[in-house]
Amino acid sequence: MPRNRLGLAGALAAVLIAAGIATGTPAQAHEEPRTQAHERPATLAQLAERHGRYFGSATDNPELTDTAYTKILGREFDMITPGNGMKWYATEPRQGVFDWTNGDQIVNLAHANHQRVRAHTLVWHSQLPDWLTSGTWTADELRAVLKKHITTEVRHYRGKVYSWDVVNEAFNEDGTYRDTIWYRTLGPGYIADALRWAHQADPHAKLYLNDYNIEATGPKSDAYYALAKQLKAQHVPLDGIGLQAHLALQYGYPTTLEDNLRRFSRLGLDTALTEVDVRMQLPATDAKLTEQATWYRDLTGACLAVRGCVGVTIWDYTDRYSWIPAVFPGEGAALPWDEQLNTKPAYHALREALR
Ligand code: XIL
Repeated sequence: MPRNRLGLAGALAAVLIAAGIATGTPAQAHEEPRTQAHERPATLAQLAERHGRYFGSATDNPELTDTAYTKILGREFDMITPGNGMKWYATEPRQGVFDWTNGDQIVNLAHANHQRVRAHTLVWHSQLPDWLTSGTWTADELRAVLKKHITTEVRHYRGKVYSWDVVNEAFNEDGTYRDTIWYRTLGPGYIADALRWAHQADPHAKLYLNDYNIEATGPKSDAYYALAKQLKAQHVPLDGIGLQAHLALQYGYPTTLEDNLRRFSRLGLDTALTEVDVRMQLPATDAKLTEQATWYRDLTGACLAVRGCVGVTIWDYTDRYSWIPAVFPGEGAALPWDEQLNTKPAYHALREALR
């Protein structure tokens, strides 16, 4: 609950409003919960906190000079993910030479705004530095490189971040292991090793495996289910599964999302929607934006319905800084705020789901 200095009457009203009991005139009965009478409406973060969840956004260093942008970023969310600043190319650009500039900038900003941090990501096949991808490594050499990277980075952020996406995108669509430098050289055991090294370096951080296209049940999410079960049985320190949820209107809504979240919960794991966006083929129309809004509402509702789902993070909050147009030509408009930082139907649908 937001900690406000409420008078007794205000506190009572807040409790009644939070309980969904109208306290005022019929006009007020339809208003959204407020932190305090005559104040601005509760933020997404405050609404989520009432459910014991967080509501987060990714951000990236170049955007942080945009003060209109950072104002909303600092206000509306209680969890922050660095979109790029903690990736390997940024943090170990030369072998053994570490650079925390970008990651630290985002962690410091988040903490100044009383936000927590989902740290992202330690082991991935993408956005690796050239020295790593162009080198030839024996298994022993590469294992040492990986261990040093994980240990150094996790230690640096120890006590400062809520969680780590330890391994990102380890599986193919058919549920086989993705052929990466890690899998090719080290075999599937690199995942358990990475989790153990991360846990040694920061025993309090929640450790996740994270991937896209695992929102619905199917071969890829089944692969995570089987792996998670196996890792738990072996007492490997795994805390959660991150479902990126980079969704696209043209592929249909993942209707098995809630069931899928629930089966991971039953293994004793946390789950989170970690990189949500809902893209569409441009131009955006009112009909598509309305459809998008129902997806945002439903995916948030799915998380709230499953005890182990700890929160939702959108992959930046505004179309001004979305990664989609650069990577999916002709697609975009994927986020709840438009390029002018105005709220879209999706934003109001999120509020509705969290109310
Ligand atoms: C994206 C960033 O948002 C872009 O700025 C960058 O150019 C490419 O990576 N899955 C992930 C994220 O786990 O790290 C990716 O982020 C988006 C897909």
